[in-house]
Amino acid sequence: MRKLSLIGIGAGNPEHITVQAIRALNAVDVFFIMDKGDTKQTLLHIRREICERYIEGKNYRIVQVEDAFRDPDVADYAARVELWHEQRSMTYERIILDELKEDQVGAFLVWGDPSLYDSTLRILDRVLARGALQFDIEMIPGITSMQALAAQHHIALNGIGESVLITTGRKLSSTAMRNMDAAIVMLDGKCAFQQLRDQDWEIFWGAYIGMDQEILLSGKLSDMADEIESVRSEARRKNHWIMDTYLLRRSNSSS
Ligand SMILES: C[S@@+](CC[C@H](N)C(=O)[O-])C[C@H]1O[C@@H](n2cnc3c(N)ncnc32)[C@H](O)[C@@H]1O
Repeated sequence: MRKLSLIGIGAGNPEHITVQAIRALNAVDVFFIMDKGDTKQTLLHIRREICERYIEGKNYRIVQVEDAFRDPDVADYAARVELWHEQRSMTYERIILDELKEDQVGAFLVWGDPSLYDSTLRILDRVLARGALQFDIEMIPGITSMQALAAQHHIALNGIGESVLITTGRKLSSTAMRNMDAAIVMLDGKCAFQQLRDQDWEIFWGAYIGMDQEILLSGKLSDMADEIESVRSEARRKNHWIMDTYLLRRSNSSS
């Protein structure tokens, strides 16, 4: 039976790799690496570097796969993601059939951890549900960008006995935060924190966390919102891509 391994590789620092991930890397015959074709060359490079650094011997292949196109003309977000997942699942099915023999192990190197804002597992489940192909799945946890953010800022994510919302820029709003003590916000291309700048929040922001270009900023949201927006936009312009995450917590929270 084929095996597909989803290996969490951490959020950009090659030293985030766990001992369990190293063991799994060394059992892989074929790595499937999605080529997003845009600004993500650095992320591709980090994945290749991880293979070179941690795999003993060179008995593996890397198959670079062109990612499915996310059609911007499909206005509804859920419908757009659904279509994209369906196309991606057909691509996965084809490459697994073409590139992986019956007794081999294939792997996807998943940024951060496979359980957090990542669709690889859902897409492999779709492939299995179609029934043309059977394989076992193994999932290896990785260090998420929110853990890396906390470590770099030397903070706990939650106040004592308090809760933390994990959300996206698209879902962040005053209403969503009304009864929350804190939130981790990911996938925010539009600086959604600006909506909360008149309220009493602290922000701990990080971009390219764990990488050479890392930028960290923190302080009262009302003081920092414009600075973060402008630093973010300048870094994006300079590097041609950006990944950033932040923690918002109430200023009076019991950190
Ligand atoms: C598609 S999600 C993947 C999350 C990933 N599975 C994880 O466990 O962190 C991508 C988002 O993760 C966050 N992210 C991932 N790596 C990051 C990094 N090194 N620095 C800052 N944010 C990062 C950003 O919010 C980015 O938009």
